[in-house]
Amino acid sequence: MSKKSILFVCLGNICRSPSAEAVMKAKLKEYSLEHNYFIDSAGVTGYHAGDSADARMQTHALKRGYDLTSISRPVEAGEDYERFDYIIGMDAQNMSDLEAMASSAEDLAKLSRMTDYCTEFTHDSVPDPYYGGAAGFELVLDLLEDACDGLISKLEDE
Ligand code: 4NP
Repeated sequence: MSKKSILFVCLGNICRSPSAEAVMKAKLKEYSLEHNYFIDSAGVTGYHAGDSADARMQTHALKRGYDLTSISRPVEAGEDYERFDYIIGMDAQNMSDLEAMASSAEDLAKLSRMTDYCTEFTHDSVPDPYYGGAAGFELVLDLLEDACDGLISKLEDE
Protein backbone atom coordinates (compact mmCIF):
# COMPACT_ATOMS: atom_id res chain seq x y z
CA MET A 1 0.00 0.00 0.00
CA SER A 2 1.42 3.41 -0.90
CA LYS A 3 1.61 6.05 1.79
CA LYS A 4 -1.01 8.78 1.93
CA SER A 5 0.74 12.15 1.84
CA ILE A 6 -0.59 15.26 3.55
CA LEU A 7 0.73 18.84 3.42
CA PHE A 8 -0.58 21.26 6.07
CA VAL A 9 -0.43 24.91 5.03
CA CYS A 10 -0.76 28.27 6.83
CA LEU A 11 0.57 31.76 6.17
CA GLY A 12 4.07 31.67 7.65
CA ASN A 13 4.62 27.98 8.48
CA ILE A 14 5.82 28.91 11.96
CA CYS A 15 2.63 28.58 14.07
CA ARG A 16 -0.41 26.66 12.80
CA SER A 17 0.88 24.30 10.11
CA PRO A 18 4.01 23.09 11.98
CA SER A 19 1.67 22.40 14.92
CA ALA A 20 -0.73 20.52 12.63
CA GLU A 21 2.22 18.49 11.38
CA ALA A 22 3.35 17.63 14.93
CA VAL A 23 -0.15 16.84 16.24
CA MET A 24 -0.89 14.64 13.22
CA LYS A 25 2.41 12.76 13.54
CA ALA A 26 1.83 12.22 17.28
CA LYS A 27 -1.70 10.92 16.75
CA LEU A 28 -0.68 8.61 13.90
CA LYS A 29 2.04 7.23 16.15
CA GLU A 30 -0.42 6.77 19.01
CA TYR A 31 -2.67 4.74 16.67
CA SER A 32 0.35 2.84 15.15
CA LEU A 33 -0.47 4.29 11.71
CA GLU A 34 2.67 6.38 11.21
CA HIS A 35 4.10 4.06 8.55
CA ASN A 36 1.07 4.61 6.30
CA TYR A 37 1.48 8.37 6.03
CA PHE A 38 3.91 11.07 4.92
CA ILE A 39 3.27 14.37 6.70
CA ASP A 40 4.79 17.79 6.00
CA SER A 41 3.92 21.49 6.32
CA ALA A 42 4.58 24.71 4.41
CA GLY A 43 3.55 28.38 4.22
CA VAL A 44 1.85 30.30 1.44
CA THR A 45 4.57 32.91 2.00
CA GLY A 46 8.31 32.45 2.35
CA TYR A 47 8.66 35.29 4.91
CA HIS A 48 9.92 32.90 7.57
CA ALA A 49 11.69 30.38 5.31
CA GLY A 50 14.49 28.64 7.24
CA ASP A 51 13.06 29.63 10.65
CA SER A 52 12.10 27.27 13.47
CA ALA A 53 8.53 27.40 14.74
CA ASP A 54 7.49 30.50 16.72
CA ALA A 55 8.83 30.24 20.29
CA ARG A 56 5.38 30.89 21.84
CA MET A 57 3.81 28.19 19.69
CA GLN A 58 6.62 25.78 20.65
CA THR A 59 6.05 26.44 24.36
CA HIS A 60 2.29 25.84 24.18
CA ALA A 61 2.73 22.73 22.02
CA LEU A 62 5.41 21.25 24.27
CA LYS A 63 3.09 21.55 27.29
CA ARG A 64 0.84 19.06 25.47
CA GLY A 65 3.79 16.85 24.48
CA TYR A 66 4.25 18.05 20.88
CA ASP A 67 7.81 18.89 19.87
CA LEU A 68 7.78 21.33 16.95
CA THR A 69 10.89 20.47 14.94
CA SER A 70 10.00 21.50 11.40
CA ILE A 71 11.71 24.38 9.61
CA SER A 72 9.59 26.88 7.67
CA ARG A 73 9.44 26.60 3.91
CA PRO A 74 7.12 28.05 1.25
CA VAL A 75 4.63 25.93 -0.75
CA GLU A 76 6.14 24.94 -4.12
CA ALA A 77 3.32 25.48 -6.61
CA GLY A 78 4.15 22.66 -9.03
CA GLU A 79 6.04 20.13 -6.95
CA ASP A 80 3.88 20.09 -3.84
CA TYR A 81 0.68 19.69 -5.85
CA GLU A 82 2.20 16.67 -7.58
CA ARG A 83 3.75 15.14 -4.51
CA PHE A 84 0.88 15.41 -1.99
CA ASP A 85 -2.50 13.67 -2.01
CA TYR A 86 -4.06 16.17 0.41
CA ILE A 87 -3.18 19.86 0.85
CA ILE A 88 -4.95 21.30 3.88
CA GLY A 89 -5.16 25.03 4.66
CA MET A 90 -6.04 26.72 7.94
CA ASP A 91 -8.18 29.74 6.95
CA ALA A 92 -10.03 31.38 4.06
CA GLN A 93 -6.98 33.35 2.90
CA ASN A 94 -4.84 30.21 2.83
CA MET A 95 -7.54 28.50 0.75
CA SER A 96 -7.75 31.27 -1.83
CA ASP A 97 -3.93 31.42 -2.06
CA LEU A 98 -3.80 27.63 -2.51
CA GLU A 99 -6.57 27.79 -5.14
CA ALA A 100 -4.59 30.43 -7.03
CA MET A 101 -1.49 28.17 -7.05
CA ALA A 102 -3.40 25.14 -8.38
CA SER A 103 -2.95 24.45 -12.08
CA SER A 104 -5.62 21.82 -12.74
CA ALA A 105 -8.93 20.42 -11.51
CA GLU A 106 -6.90 17.56 -10.05
CA ASP A 107 -4.83 20.03 -8.01
CA LEU A 108 -7.98 21.79 -6.78
CA ALA A 109 -9.49 18.47 -5.72
CA LYS A 110 -6.57 17.98 -3.30
CA LEU A 111 -7.46 21.11 -1.32
CA SER A 112 -9.47 21.17 1.89
CA ARG A 113 -9.72 23.25 5.04
CA MET A 114 -8.54 21.91 8.40
CA THR A 115 -11.75 22.78 10.23
CA ASP A 116 -13.76 20.63 7.76
CA TYR A 117 -12.50 17.66 9.80
CA CYS A 118 -13.49 18.98 13.25
CA THR A 119 -16.23 17.02 14.98
CA GLU A 120 -16.36 18.97 18.28
CA PHE A 121 -15.59 22.55 17.29
CA THR A 122 -17.76 24.49 14.83
CA HIS A 123 -15.11 27.10 13.87
CA ASP A 124 -14.66 27.61 10.13
CA SER A 125 -10.95 28.45 10.40
CA VAL A 126 -7.92 27.89 12.60
CA PRO A 127 -7.32 31.56 13.52
CA ASP A 128 -3.89 33.11 13.11
CA PRO A 129 -2.43 33.34 16.67
CA TYR A 130 0.61 35.47 15.72
CA TYR A 131 -0.53 38.89 17.01
CA GLY A 132 -2.62 37.61 19.93
CA GLY A 133 -2.04 36.14 23.38
CA ALA A 134 -1.82 32.73 25.03
CA ALA A 135 -5.49 31.86 24.44
CA GLY A 136 -4.97 32.02 20.68
CA PHE A 137 -2.18 29.45 20.79
CA GLU A 138 -4.25 27.14 22.99
CA LEU A 139 -7.22 27.47 20.61
CA VAL A 140 -4.97 26.51 17.69
CA LEU A 141 -3.97 23.32 19.49
CA ASP A 142 -7.56 22.52 20.55
CA LEU A 143 -8.77 22.88 16.96
CA LEU A 144 -5.87 20.90 15.51
CA GLU A 145 -6.34 18.00 17.94
CA ASP A 146 -10.04 17.80 17.04
CA ALA A 147 -9.36 18.11 13.29
CA CYS A 148 -6.54 15.54 13.25
CA ASP A 149 -8.78 12.95 14.91
CA GLY A 150 -11.51 13.63 12.35
CA LEU A 151 -9.04 13.55 9.47
CA ILE A 152 -7.54 10.24 10.57
CA SER A 153 -11.04 8.70 10.93
CA LYS A 154 -11.96 9.87 7.41
CA LEU A 155 -8.74 8.64 5.81
CA GLU A 156 -8.85 5.28 7.56
CA ASP A 157 -12.48 4.79 6.41
CA GLU A 158 -11.60 5.41 2.75
P1 4NP B 1 1.19 31.00 10.88
O1 4NP B 1 1.27 32.36 11.73
O2 4NP B 1 0.63 31.38 9.52
O3 4NP B 1 0.25 30.16 11.67
O4 4NP B 1 2.59 30.46 10.81
C1 4NP B 1 1.85 33.54 11.28
C2 4NP B 1 3.22 33.65 11.24
C3 4NP B 1 3.82 34.83 10.85
C4 4NP B 1 3.03 35.92 10.50
C5 4NP B 1 1.67 35.80 10.53
C6 4NP B 1 1.08 34.62 10.92
N1 4NP B 1 3.65 37.14 10.11
O5 4NP B 1 2.92 38.10 9.86
O6 4NP B 1 4.89 37.21 10.05
